[in-house]
Amino acid sequence: MAQIFPRWTNKTPRVILITAVTAFAAIVAFFWYFGSPKYTDAGYRPVQPVPYSHKLHAGDLELDCRYCHWAVEISESANVPSTQICMNCHSLILTESEKLMPLRESIGNNVPVQWIRVHMLPDYVYFDHGAHLNAGVGCVTCHGNVAEMEIVSQISPLSMSWCLECHRNPAPNLRPVDQITNMNWQPPEDQKSFAEQVLKEKNIYPPVACSGCHR
Ligand code: HEC
Ligand code: HEC
Ligand code: HEC
Ligand code: HEC
Ligand code: HEC
Repeated sequence: MAQIFPRWTNKTPRVILITAVTAFAAIVAFFWYFGSPKYTDAGYRPVQPVPYSHKLHAGDLELDCRYCHWAVEISESANVPSTQICMNCHSLILTESEKLMPLRESIGNNVPVQWIRVHMLPDYVYFDHGAHLNAGVGCVTCHGNVAEMEIVSQISPLSMSWCLECHRNPAPNLRPVDQITNMNWQPPEDQKSFAEQVLKEKNIYPPVACSGCHR
């Protein structure tokens, strides 16, 4: 009997199936990757390679944020501490701890601990920690009360509208520069006149033009 379809069409259903499965997998991968919390902002809270607790170290032990994030006032980005800073204490404290094994390996092999980034702006946005801290915006305003966090979680959306909301009216978020790492500082009753004075003295004009943040 004459064939209605040529022989090669036997393969067609398989090709269609394979193409469909591949396309489906690509779509799933796309949403998996770009839809993951890292890209949808607030609430992102990855598990770190060492169960380091800010609540213990910055809260209970009252270490100042700058003991570890020492570059935060003088540079664009806050540094994550080197293992050596941890070893200032942990070469003496809990030297046998299982949980601190990755620290000892890091020092021994001279490779940094692979901390997972929590906060991350897109490359096309310019942000400078130093400029904000020197103007008197505290860590807690953008990061929440980190000293109470067992695991750091992103609490602000880091969206353009979030930046702009403060840039249009920074006054309520200004504090004395010696209080920037204080998680419990409360604005005084005369915050308004304090802020007015600071805005004038330091000549503070947060950028609202596009080129301020997209350089
Ligand atoms: C003993 C050292 C130490 C001290 C003190 C400390 N931190 Fe950290 N911080 C770390 C380490 C290590 C990480 C990376 C691991 C993690 O995210 O928990 C980190 C991460 C962070 C992150 C998340 C960074 C990211 O990847 O986006 C923020 C925000 C932060 N710290 C803020 C603070 C604030 C605010 C204080 C003061 C209240 C503080 N830290 C005190 C060691 C420290
Ligand atoms: C100023 C001293 C000091 C520094 C600096 C320090 N720690 Fe600690 N750490 C302590 C103390 C004190 C404890 C609690 C000891 C206890 O529970 O008896 C502790 C506990 C820990 C624990 C819990 C371990 C366990 O077995 O329960 C981890 C994990 C830890 N630190 C990680 C770090 C990391 C990572 C760094 C550097 C980013 C660091 N520490 C820096 C003093 C310090
Ligand atoms: C005006 C808001 C703001 C303030 C104030 C602020 N941060 Fe941040 N922080 C951010 C943003 C936004 C990022 C993400 C930066 C990026 O991806 O380039 C970030 C990232 C970080 C990181 C991750 C490493 C890095 O630099 O990207 C650490 C650690 C950190 N901040 C610590 C601190 C500490 C400690 C303070 C207070 C001394 C502080 N921040 C004050 C907004 C702020
Ligand atoms: C809580 C208030 C607040 C938030 C939130 C905030 N800023 Fe700012 N920003 C300021 C203040 C105050 C200044 C200082 C302006 C000055 O000194 O004239 C500033 C300055 C800047 C500057 C100028 C710095 C320089 O070196 O010229 C840039 C760029 C900037 N902010 C970007 C951002 C971006 C991007 C975000 C969001 C991811 C953000 N800011 C979120 C308050 C804020
Ligand atoms: C105060 C800082 C700041 C200023 C000023 C600013 N942007 Fe943005 N912009 C951001 C941040 C932060 C993001 C990243 C938002 C995110 O990842 O959710 C962004 C994202 C964007 C995007 C990417 C699209 C999107 O929504 O994700 C565009 C386009 C953009 N900005 C255009 C502009 C234009 C046009 C202006 C001037 C009218 C401007 N921006 C002014 C901070 C700023």
